[in-house]
Amino acid sequence: MNVLVTGGAGYIGSAVARVLVQEGHSVAVYDSLVTGHRAAVARDMRLFEGDTRDTSAVRAALQEHRAEAVVHLAAISQVGTSVLEPRAYFDNNVRGALSLLDAMLDLGVRDLVFSSTAAVYGEPDRCPILEDAPTRPVSPYGETKRMIEQVLARYGHAYGLRHTSLRYFNAAGALPDAGEDHRPETHLIPRLLLLAQGRGEPVTVFGTDYPTRDGTCVRDYIHVADLARAHTLALGALSAEGRVYNLGCGGGFTVGEVLAAARTVTGQPIPVAYGPRRDGDPAELVASSERITAELGWVPRHPGIEDILASAWDWMQRNPHGWQG
Ligand code: NAD
Ligand code: UFG
Repeated sequence: MNVLVTGGAGYIGSAVARVLVQEGHSVAVYDSLVTGHRAAVARDMRLFEGDTRDTSAVRAALQEHRAEAVVHLAAISQVGTSVLEPRAYFDNNVRGALSLLDAMLDLGVRDLVFSSTAAVYGEPDRCPILEDAPTRPVSPYGETKRMIEQVLARYGHAYGLRHTSLRYFNAAGALPDAGEDHRPETHLIPRLLLLAQGRGEPVTVFGTDYPTRDGTCVRDYIHVADLARAHTLALGALSAEGRVYNLGCGGGFTVGEVLAAARTVTGQPIPVAYGPRRDGDPAELVASSERITAELGWVPRHPGIEDILASAWDWMQRNPHGWQG
């Protein structure tokens, strides 16, 4: 298939684009580079530099690539910033998605895989979280993703848009040739590894009084290679009714366990401070991914936290300046 990957110069999109090519698809990237990196786009892939809100530029890219399907990852995604600047989030993420959908429907491109998030659930009543759990996003960021999911459901019904939403839990790790380089970096794993390399900002563990095994938050970390593979499966099973799948490994690790594993993998002491809770952090976010396993045969190949950390560490050691080296 000819696939246009929006956000393909970003962390997860650059992995998705590579895995789609390995699976035999012809891939082009559409990205504004607002947080992505030109160097993250593989040499054999065309980069259309543009914003999803520019409908005619998206239309031109779809036409030039003769796109049959779109994987839509382009979004801004810092939970905390979204609370302070909701306008930017609704504008970029919601207006961007509507504009992309206009361009697709104008040209009769009806197949879409959408990057959603565990943040649509907000504070869950129970873990592991099933897809039919209530969606009560706490942040504007999570709200933008829920809104787009709702739009897709309506467009499937009205226009035959064939769509699947993948609700990622905590993406982590790297492919051999594509890793994580957010600036500023807010995610736990790269922050710990940057510190191990001696070039990171100090890290504070946010909260030690949660009702968990060691008092720190539990998150469901998923290897970016496993995440990327799910997109190829989703592309092969799109329908106008639409489907929503959680993507996690179903176990979950505390911040303390991630820290211990990072010390083991890097052999570095990684000193951290312990501080108060971060606003909006639920104690535990763990996925049930049984639906995607049952329906699409997806199973994580790298469910262990050390495996995930080792792949990220390997990429960072070989790319000490990230994508800008
Ligand atoms: P990222 O910032 O590395 O990648 C996002 C990419 O989208 C960047 O290359 C950026 O330049 C591009 N982009 C943003 N707005 C754009 C626009 N209007 N037009 C064109 N390009 C635009 O982020 P990521 O961590 O790779 O996340 C990718 C997707 O996955 C996002 O949709 C995010 O919400 C979702 N997600 C990520 C995580 C995670 O753990 N990282 C978890 C759940 C969901
Ligand atoms: N954490 C710290 N110190 C830090 C950074 C993070 O203790 O310096 C903790 C957080 O409190 C949280 C855990 O480490 O408990 C993971 O935090 P991240 O910032 O790495 O990731 P989040 O869980 O906040 O969010 C990520 C994505 C969201 C997605 C969510 C789904 O960024 O888009 O996973 O679980 F919605």
